[in-house]
Amino acid sequence: MSFLSFSAFTSLLTACTAILIAQLYTRSPLAVRHRNTARSVKMKSWEVVKNSDKPSEALRLKDDGVETDHANPLATLPRPKGGDITIKVSHAGLNPADLAFMANIPSWVPFRRRPTPAIDFAGTIVAMGPQAASSKGHKGAAKPLAIGTRVAGCLTVPYVATGHGGLTEYLTVPADMVARQPDNHTSVASVGLLGCAGQTAHLCATDSHARDAFAAATKEGRRPRVLINGASGGVGSLLIQINKSKSRDAHVTAVCSGRNAKFVRALGADEVVDYTQHKSLPEYLATAYADNKFDLIYDCVGSQPLYLQSPSYLQPKGAVLCIVGGGQGSAPFVRNKLLPTFLGGTPRAYKLLALFPSGEQARAVAGMVEEGTIKEMPIDTVFPFEEAVAAYEKLATKRSRGKIIVQVDPTVKE
Ligand SMILES: NC(=O)c1ccc[n+]([C@@H]2O[C@H](COP(=O)([O-])OP(=O)(O)OC[C@H]3O[C@@H](n4cnc5c(N)ncnc54)[C@H](OP(=O)(O)O)[C@@H]3O)[C@@H](O)[C@H]2O)c1
Repeated sequence: MSFLSFSAFTSLLTACTAILIAQLYTRSPLAVRHRNTARSVKMKSWEVVKNSDKPSEALRLKDDGVETDHANPLATLPRPKGGDITIKVSHAGLNPADLAFMANIPSWVPFRRRPTPAIDFAGTIVAMGPQAASSKGHKGAAKPLAIGTRVAGCLTVPYVATGHGGLTEYLTVPADMVARQPDNHTSVASVGLLGCAGQTAHLCATDSHARDAFAAATKEGRRPRVLINGASGGVGSLLIQINKSKSRDAHVTAVCSGRNAKFVRALGADEVVDYTQHKSLPEYLATAYADNKFDLIYDCVGSQPLYLQSPSYLQPKGAVLCIVGGGQGSAPFVRNKLLPTFLGGTPRAYKLLALFPSGEQARAVAGMVEEGTIKEMPIDTVFPFEEAVAAYEKLATKRSRGKIIVQVDPTVKE
């Protein structure tokens, strides 16, 4: 190959690569982020300015000092393309995952500088791309998406990875990522229901181990018995309702502190174990439930001893489904999953569940709400937008009862 032809070849290759990158970029969350942030649009957002487990150190309110024209937002916002929708955010739901991201994802991660926190969002569609109404998740729906439709969801991994969050006035996401807010439910409730808590509860309830444990109990002529550790939190409070629904009709034992006993009973729990009254929860369960073992244990706290001692209070065909990783490191999970019984492994099924949020799951939760499987999203507190730091500080206490929500748009009343 002569020098000239080699040069022509490399130029062509460079041009093709540039076109490819440009194509990928314009369809990526990163492009949406750039279209929607300071460069082109002036609006209020919270942003993470420093890695810290103290929200007061990590967060800053970014206010350009220019009022967004809410009467005509598209005058300043770019129009969504393809299957995207632009949402005027009314509420953001806070999750423990937000705190973990705030403290741990370093600021040098490319495309994630000054990320906006909060993975859960709810709001009203103000603009739609040409393919949004016919996107995969909404095509042929009885009630199609339109301007003015109230929607909610949980940001998917690529959006979180590129620094998107719900604590901002306007958010552009694919229509496929959202579900319509269920009728007769407020946006405050919907942001929790269709967000991380609701989607995680759905993941837990539909896991094959849960189905198998219920089937084994029914086959043996027993009503399934379920233990929920951390029953008063965002996920636990929904798991109580799902397991008490007509289709599951389980006997539910809720583990929480005494101050939340009345709360979990009101959601349907048959029994309450106040963990603060026992030196060791597993030892208490081994004594109290040896003759009346559970079929399924949901662990929303992350207790390795609860699994290790489970043969004393969990049926042989039962399972422990845990949603809390981290903290303890990965060794216990590898052990729980892989160590054979003859080498000292615990003779009970174990699974660590991890949510990969999706619009499909949000729509499945909306279905559970509409059929009455989930009746309500208990709300701990709704904080005003300016008090997001206080809201995260309350979340960090791990004492919230149901969800903590931030009201982004003060004009939304429902
Ligand atoms: N794997 C996943 O994909 C996934 C998804 C969602 C959430 N999670 C994780 O799951 C956990 C629960 O999430 P969440 O949103 O439900 O949290 P949350 O709402 O913040 O949970 C707060 C509740 O936890 C209870 N609690 C705290 N310590 C407890 C203990 N030792 N025993 C029993 N209850 C206790 C508190 O009740 P008391 O005040 O009565 O103690 C409080 O009501 C978090 O660690 C979260 O990171 C994981």
